[in-house]
Amino acid sequence: MTARERIAGNVANYVDERTGAAAWMKKNLNKVFPDHWSFLLGEIALYSFVILLLSGTFLTFWFDPSQREVVYEGSYQPLSGLKMSAAYASTLHISFEVRGGLLMRQIHHWAALFFMVAIVVHLLRVYFTGAFRKPREFNWIIGVGLLTLGIVEGFLGYSLPDDLLSGTGIRIAEAIIQAVPVVGTYIAFFAFGGPFPGEAFIPRIFTVHVLLLPGIFLALITVHLMLVWYQKHTQYPGPGRTEKNVVGYPLFPVYMAKAGGFFFIVFGVTTFIAAVASINPIWLYGPYTPGQISAGSQPDWYMGWLDGLVRMAPPLETHAFGHTISWNILIPGLIIPGIMFTGLALYPFIESWITGDKREHHLLDRPRNVPNRTAIGAMALTFTLIALINGGNDIIAQQFHLSINQIMWFSRIGIIVLPPIAFVITKRICISLQRADRELVLHGKETGRLVRLAHGEFVEIHEEISPEKKWLLTSHEQSGALELPEIDKGGVRRPSAIRNKLRSRMSQANAEVAPKVSTQDLKEIEHL
Ligand code: HEM
Repeated sequence: MTARERIAGNVANYVDERTGAAAWMKKNLNKVFPDHWSFLLGEIALYSFVILLLSGTFLTFWFDPSQREVVYEGSYQPLSGLKMSAAYASTLHISFEVRGGLLMRQIHHWAALFFMVAIVVHLLRVYFTGAFRKPREFNWIIGVGLLTLGIVEGFLGYSLPDDLLSGTGIRIAEAIIQAVPVVGTYIAFFAFGGPFPGEAFIPRIFTVHVLLLPGIFLALITVHLMLVWYQKHTQYPGPGRTEKNVVGYPLFPVYMAKAGGFFFIVFGVTTFIAAVASINPIWLYGPYTPGQISAGSQPDWYMGWLDGLVRMAPPLETHAFGHTISWNILIPGLIIPGIMFTGLALYPFIESWITGDKREHHLLDRPRNVPNRTAIGAMALTFTLIALINGGNDIIAQQFHLSINQIMWFSRIGIIVLPPIAFVITKRICISLQRADRELVLHGKETGRLVRLAHGEFVEIHEEISPEKKWLLTSHEQSGALELPEIDKGGVRRPSAIRNKLRSRMSQANAEVAPKVSTQDLKEIEHL
């Protein structure tokens, strides 16, 4: 044994005698994880979060979260002598005078954008593959919590510099708070410490942005990852993979090396983009003054859909008992997002109610094999996308020389008409893809080689696919619709007949698939 090995052994023994870590490490470092590129999406979210913590801490050393009025005397001449808040002045100071300050600001902002992209794409992976099914429903709900927090955290972050763009965003947030019936004005008054904009809001959101929300994030991410660990990761179907095993590589050394490397790739790419692509150049917007608003004000992308919904709402207001209810803000700003996020959080429970499936699932679905779920996802995405497009209606109008009113009317009509169309088209595509799979299993793949038979007919040679591929295309379940008769066995009408009818209809729609190849089909084809 070399001296170095002896020292390492002694240190390990010392720690183990006091913590009993060896047994725990042995068990957990050997834990096997399945491998697939789409499992990296959650990791990108995690690494972006770490980058946000590091770059954000750097920014707090110089950022002054105060709305106290100061006169700018920094090096950026166009704003010299202008009155502004200390928050805005300190952000200019970070950008122009602090060494590496602008790069850090840009890393922080880009990392926030990537963080939200990674969260959303990770959510879509989990959704379209059915990874949210039992026993992972809680982790799905935690995920929806993280998504919501991410949106709020990002919004508070880009509101901090108190530039003209961020102030415009805060003004919209104030309007949404005020739209809450009866108590809205009081809540807004409380949040801003008096009339808008006041001097309390930026210091308050600073504390929430750097202390409260990151703390909740850390706690929720820890629970999220502990659940992934405890419940084991799902895996894609394939040879040798069952609901009861996990096929993959051990955590140590394979995943530790991969994860470590991947963190630096994410950090490197974020830094590179932050170094070459300008983001949020607040010096061009100027300080916030409530009487001004710049043309083309755009929120960050993850808020764009909400802005788009608010922009497309027709001017509807009710005055009753001395109160004004602004439906044009209340519905798009609070009610629709409330329904969207509640529906998202409850989706695993709704699906299991429709299918009656209460079993555990560790093998993932191919999206085409669950046409209804995939179509619902496409429908929700279309809705959000149209809202997002309308969020940029002024920029689109300007860039493509269109009328802003036409874009708004397209969005107003499109947001109602296009999601159901997306549902139908996606479902049909899924079922067609299932039929294509069926063809592949029964008749093999087309080779492009044409042969002329003795009697003159031309046929294309088909090549049989591998047994693994055949298994992959036929291993999924097709359970059929639930039997929910309105009259029970004793001839009595069930008390919850309407609910049963609804469930039965939904279950039938869910069971609409192209029948997969059965053993009988295979036997028949062998005899041909
Ligand atoms: C801060 C945000 C988030 C972080 C850091 C994060 C991180 C992760 C990581 C590292 C994994 C394991 C690798 C993978 O499957 O990608 C994972 C799995 C999972 N995540 Fe997230 N996630 C976040 C947000 C979300 C959201 C928004 C949802 C859904 C609403 C979600 C639902 C899940 C589920 C159900 C699993 C288990 C997947 C499986 O076993 O296949 N997560 N998450």
